[in-house]
Amino acid sequence: MLNQLKQKVLKEIKGAGDIKILEGIHKSYLGRQGELTKILRSLKDLSEKEKKEKGKEANKLKQEIEKAVKAKSRKFSAKGGPDAPLERASGGQDKDWIDVTAPGVLPAQGHLHPISLVQQKIEEIFQSMGFSVVEGPEVETEHYNFDALNIPKDHPARDLWDTFWLKNIGLLLRTHTSPMQARYMEKHQPPLRIIVPGRCFRHEATDATHETTFHQAEGLMVGEDVSMANFKGVIKGFLKRFFGPEVKIRLRPGYFPFTEPSFEVDIKRQDKNWLEIMGAGMVHPNVFKAVGYQPGKWQGFAFGMGLDRLAMLKYKIDDIRLFYSGDLRFLRQF
Ligand code: PHE
Repeated sequence: MLNQLKQKVLKEIKGAGDIKILEGIHKSYLGRQGELTKILRSLKDLSEKEKKEKGKEANKLKQEIEKAVKAKSRKFSAKGGPDAPLERASGGQDKDWIDVTAPGVLPAQGHLHPISLVQQKIEEIFQSMGFSVVEGPEVETEHYNFDALNIPKDHPARDLWDTFWLKNIGLLLRTHTSPMQARYMEKHQPPLRIIVPGRCFRHEATDATHETTFHQAEGLMVGEDVSMANFKGVIKGFLKRFFGPEVKIRLRPGYFPFTEPSFEVDIKRQDKNWLEIMGAGMVHPNVFKAVGYQPGKWQGFAFGMGLDRLAMLKYKIDDIRLFYSGDLRFLRQF
């Protein structure tokens, strides 16, 4: 009887035209109400001896059916099912077959953000010119962000920096890295040379060249006779090493309360337009006074450059907002 059943099942499996039919066949024999399932269930009513013989046979048939169904279903998937390529690679024979000569799959690897790359490069170049790298707090006091930089309360110049205030505690998110000029000079005597990379925040509308969160690197060099000529030399040297010797720059007069005279530095973009990349100037005597330096003894230059903008120029990125977008299609290019 089991033998007959076996012939019948195998024939049906062989003739199954698609995976649905095959599943139906499997169910009709091995499902809860399946023919063979019923036989297996009835074994318990047989005598010990019969149970042993028939049980063995029935279980063997069950395994054969499972195997035949599996083999057949593999044929269907080999014709283009989800794991078709795998099946084909293994010749459709053995599921555990592994092609040891196939190239491996490299695990995805992280890397530095373009802003970090630019920051590292800047630090490297300035360090080679004798500057130390220092960092300051992102949450600042009004004193360091404004007052110590010759920007008194109610002075209209404060409007140059739209500020995120932290409610009721008198603190703010620094609008530039310049507060570190004052913090550093309070603790150190000239001669000194530092750069201060870091994140800054401004409460303003965003567009392709403005973002509420951005990055700057502040520079400060103070000594007995540090001059404008030194500034030009340092900044040209830096930009040539950062962008290459063909870089085109221009200095424009500007205004900052903490430098006098003040300038802005622009770089010529590929599209021939100029992009402002830094504010700079000779440190204002009031800033030296605020940090307790002896009047008239020291002079120096300071600058603050936008890292995001340097990165935009270097990598030809046309929208600053991409840096904080977290968009992997963008980030994977670096
Ligand atoms: N802190 C200025 C800004 O963010 C830039 C600057 C730095 C200008 C140092 C002069 C000197 O706009």
